[in-house]
Amino acid sequence: MEHATKPHTATEGVAPFTFSEEAHAECRIIISRYPADHSKSALIPILHIAQAENNGWLSVPAMDAVAKLLKIQYIEVYEVATFYSMFNLHPMGKHVLEVCHTVPCMLRGADDVVAHIEKRLNIKPGGTTADGLFSLKTVECLGSCGTAPMLQCGAKYHEHLTTEKVDELIEKLRIEPKRNNYTDR
Ligand code: FES
Repeated sequence: MEHATKPHTATEGVAPFTFSEEAHAECRIIISRYPADHSKSALIPILHIAQAENNGWLSVPAMDAVAKLLKIQYIEVYEVATFYSMFNLHPMGKHVLEVCHTVPCMLRGADDVVAHIEKRLNIKPGGTTADGLFSLKTVECLGSCGTAPMLQCGAKYHEHLTTEKVDELIEKLRIEPKRNNYTDR
């Protein structure tokens, strides 16, 4: 499929992107699960791999590489990547704290969790600590309403949160090596 003309995007200074051999092999396995003319069905898992390969965010070159791999239009990748909060469109901290902010979690104290993290890390939602260790996001329902309030960090859910549990998590993450490989999802 021919790619449509790309919209003007600010890519100056953004590192080029190529999948590692290991990631490319994983992508091929995922793509093989779908009929050849439905490669777009593999888009979300491939975006996860691209994001993990690109240090936790999807640059334009990373999204373009996904489009080329799946033989779909660039815009088809951009529209999915910009819709879901699980995809980051700018560089993020080593650990991304995604606090659910939908009603069930709000009723169980999500605001207090967010306020505590803001104070503790001196960042607002959308921000990253000066040392690059943590980013904070508020996100919509993560499907764990029964264990509200909760947050997601990487592949893990942290549930029934209290300020004490948040403090414990932050201290644990401070010394945890970055797990950036897509196999950690
Ligand atoms: Fe928070 Fe559903 S409302 S997980």
